[in-house]
Amino acid sequence: MAKLDRCHNIADLRNAARRRLPKGVFEYVDRGTEDELALANNRIVYEKTKLLNRVLVDTSDIQLGTTIFGKPSTMPLAIAPTGVAGMCWYEGEFELAKGAAAAGVPFTMATPANTSMEKIAKEAQGRLWFQLYMWRDKELSDELVLRAARAGFETLIWTVDAGHSFNREYNARNGFNTPYRLNARSALDALMHPEWLATVLGRYIATTGMPRHVNYPKQYQAKFTGGGGAKAQHANKLSWADADRLRAIWPGKLVIKGIMRVEDAEEAVRRGVDGIVISNHGGRNMDSAPSPLEVLPAIAQAVRGRTTIFVDSGVRRGSDIVKALALGADCVLAGRATLYGVATAGQVGVEKALGILKKEMVQTMAYIGRQRVSDISGDDLWNGPPIP
Ligand code: FNR
Repeated sequence: MAKLDRCHNIADLRNAARRRLPKGVFEYVDRGTEDELALANNRIVYEKTKLLNRVLVDTSDIQLGTTIFGKPSTMPLAIAPTGVAGMCWYEGEFELAKGAAAAGVPFTMATPANTSMEKIAKEAQGRLWFQLYMWRDKELSDELVLRAARAGFETLIWTVDAGHSFNREYNARNGFNTPYRLNARSALDALMHPEWLATVLGRYIATTGMPRHVNYPKQYQAKFTGGGGAKAQHANKLSWADADRLRAIWPGKLVIKGIMRVEDAEEAVRRGVDGIVISNHGGRNMDSAPSPLEVLPAIAQAVRGRTTIFVDSGVRRGSDIVKALALGADCVLAGRATLYGVATAGQVGVEKALGILKKEMVQTMAYIGRQRVSDISGDDLWNGPPIP
């Protein structure tokens, strides 16, 4: 695809996505919250973290392969749950799942997806993880979780940093909110992006009707243009007992996403979770949050080896993955990097994004003289002036 041939890095895919998507959808994907301090800092910390060259060592056989939860992955990365993939491409979650399978990495399907979990489980190959936003009515959450287990999802990622509302003011200005309501501005925005209108919104209307959060309990399902207020049903009264509750009913691996404190990481380990995601939700929720990379070393020191440590928020280069591993992570999650890919070209765009990250990661490992992911360590970091 000529469009993809012109994309040499994730920033190019982002530009291609910006051209294709209505402004409201693009900004929903791309931007942060409030003054976007957390969003910017996520990148700044990656940029300020430096690696040291290691020379005159064999780099003729660099391999990115690793094991995540006892199964092979072609690189230490899984696709993060992102609820809006289905507005970037028709059934974008399905495209992400197929792209992940083709590239040999796990895919996480988000609770607010527009594609049914059964379809993805049946038709996308590869490793499938499911992300949960717990409902206030916890029995409805349990039903969703059991449904994911029955469908064949192997890992449950429970997101715990999103029980409240957030200030993403640009969404209000663009007329883009979930549930989406057409107003003069967003309708004009859609009309100015006819390819998106025909191949995404138009295709839903012609097939299954207006896009919906199809995996929500029936009573919460909100059409793209309708009310429903399902978000208001997110539980904001959660406790560690809910982790026990999930542990008891979920037969697969259990991961808690949105951990930023050492003591929370330690408690998660005590509760028997298989993994934690150190995350500030891609800078989308609390604007005063530090970068996950800044809190990673202390958390890794406390729990490394006792649980699998994932980190996300800001991965845009293969070198970022190497840095995260050097600071103590076992694996990263990528959110926007693969969303830009799916928004540009569906499944092949996802494969392109993952291919770029793989190529860059190999190059970085060559420079630092590491042939295996398990060899990457704190010794690869340049311990220069501390990050301010
Ligand atoms: C997200 N994220 C997210 N997380 C989650 O647990 N459930 C969800 O439904 C969503 N939805 C969502 C939509 C969009 C558009 C984005 C960008 C992100 C957060 C996501 O899983 C992950 O934490 C961040 O995307 C990581 O940051 P980067 O890689 O996007 O910088």
